[in-house]
Amino acid sequence: MLKLESKSEGSVPQPHESHFYHNLVPAYQALWPAVAKRRIQANLTALNIPAGTRVLEVGVGTGMSLEAYPEHADILGVDLSESMLAEAEVLIEKNDWQHIKVRSMNAEQLEFEDASFDLVTSFHTISVVSRPDQMMREMVRVCKPGGRILVINHFRSENPLIARVVDSAGGITRRLGWRTDLEVNDLLNELPIEVESCHKNNPLSLFRVLVAKRV
Ligand SMILES: C[S@@+](CC[C@H](N)C(=O)[O-])C[C@H]1O[C@@H](n2cnc3c(N)ncnc32)[C@H](O)[C@@H]1O
Repeated sequence: MLKLESKSEGSVPQPHESHFYHNLVPAYQALWPAVAKRRIQANLTALNIPAGTRVLEVGVGTGMSLEAYPEHADILGVDLSESMLAEAEVLIEKNDWQHIKVRSMNAEQLEFEDASFDLVTSFHTISVVSRPDQMMREMVRVCKPGGRILVINHFRSENPLIARVVDSAGGITRRLGWRTDLEVNDLLNELPIEVESCHKNNPLSLFRVLVAKRV
């Protein structure tokens, strides 16, 4: 079993302050899908998810990604924000998606046994939780050996110039609830995974697509 200790071992994980998201829902729903939905759909489709796959999506939000999952898989989305989940539930009901469920849960403390899912996904969430390393450990813990992990997120650029420019906006984005200085390699250290790819869908994209296999 994967150990969950971290630098702040013993402390209770602090859930993200999600009032921000509660207040932001209307603006978020108007703007965000246009930016991100196509990228999520393309990368989920590329995984060729087989029939019967048990999928966990961490930080499912309003359920923007949900239509991209095949109906032959079982999808569970979790999120801390009740208002985000309420929107996702409306979407699920409207589309009569029997294969999808959502529930309230802290990404840093997933309430599942080890090795419960074949595929664990997360989009644009790991940089808003209080402890990204803890969230990543939890995603890996609940993934079955041989299963896969898909994360799409902004990570700190490998180009020092771009990294410095983006870092300078960090004070603003942090006030908005997310950080821009997350180093992808820091998250992956010592985890029982093999990184299959960590790429951008195009060179100008701010977002990286991490695909890893649980060993
Ligand atoms: C930027 S939104 C992304 C939502 C969705 N994945 C998308 O791409 O549209 C980040 C999400 O993370 C959720 N979140 C923040 N902290 C969390 C935590 N500790 N546990 C679970 N969800 C959390 C927020 O409520 C929000 O829905």
